Amino acid sequence: MQMKDKIKKNIIEIESFVANTNEDLEDFRIKYLGKKGLLADYFTDFKSLDNDKKKDVGQLLNQLKTTAQLKVENLKTKLLSKTSKPKLNDLSRPGDSIQIGSRHPISIVKNRIIDIFSNIGFTISEGPEIEDDWHNFSALNLPEHHPARDMQDTFFVEKNPDYLLRTHTSSVQVRFMENNKPPIRTISPGRVYRNEAISARSHCFFHQIEGLCIDKDISFADLKQTLEYFTNQLFGKSKIRLRPSYFPFTEPSAEVDVYWGLNNETDYKMTKGTGWLEIMGCGMVDPNVLQNCNIDPNEYSGFAFGLGIDRIALLLHQIEDIRLLSENDIRFLEQFKASF
Ligand code: DAH
Repeated sequence: MQMKDKIKKNIIEIESFVANTNEDLEDFRIKYLGKKGLLADYFTDFKSLDNDKKKDVGQLLNQLKTTAQLKVENLKTKLLSKTSKPKLNDLSRPGDSIQIGSRHPISIVKNRIIDIFSNIGFTISEGPEIEDDWHNFSALNLPEHHPARDMQDTFFVEKNPDYLLRTHTSSVQVRFMENNKPPIRTISPGRVYRNEAISARSHCFFHQIEGLCIDKDISFADLKQTLEYFTNQLFGKSKIRLRPSYFPFTEPSAEVDVYWGLNNETDYKMTKGTGWLEIMGCGMVDPNVLQNCNIDPNEYSGFAFGLGIDRIALLLHQIEDIRLLSENDIRFLEQFKASF
């Protein structure tokens, strides 16, 4: 038989070889790959071949070598997994370690805020992400063609523009008031959508928490007190300021800034050198909104507020790039294992 045919035959033999024990495998390795093995012999013979045959035979020899090496590696792992099967009756074996996951920073912050408000009697309510015009806009004092609708670029459901992806969790206020009688104290966490130009920093969805408190004699002072309690619990800071602002569903309306301080370089950076950080919008629920939800504004009053969870997660964990929150990179998420 010619050398080429012999090698081909060996390759077939190798491919079909099975080893049941480590000894079988070692014999196999020595037979083909050992110092005095078949391959070594072939390479010796190879040297005395005519030059015109060397190319073909050389290629086959290399194939033989890699096939044998691969086979050895494969059989090694196979045998190892066979022998390391757990012995069920060996009670001294250490347990398998369990990979513990971590909560997403947005969930961590959301749960924390829920806790803070639960402690002062707020319930948790939710509403649908696909909303109708009434709950997202009209009932909130934003009638059709109202210019303030432009503040929140909206994704409409193409087939039926009466439906849209809610642009804020304020829609849940309306649903809650429609279905519950005062006194009301509720917070509504959820995902919201805005049709904003996609850039590195802007996202088409984010998370908000809406707060609502309706009762007899609720005043702006109650709102301020509640917010101070909240910022103190969440940030350990209770110095806040309320800047006049405009939201169609509240009157008066305000933007809430918390005094973060200017103790280090990060504070300067985060607050743009002012020490103040804007964290949410709020106000006294507009009487029109109460009326739209069948609550008598002559009998009841209340306050509402809305804040972005993503932004607060960035602040609390000093995360510089908002994209990290939606990339689900395990190396990023794992860093929150120690958090609650
Ligand atoms: N819905 C507002 C937004 O998405 C946030 C907001 C502001 C909610 C003031 C409120 C409020 O309840 O009183 O920008």
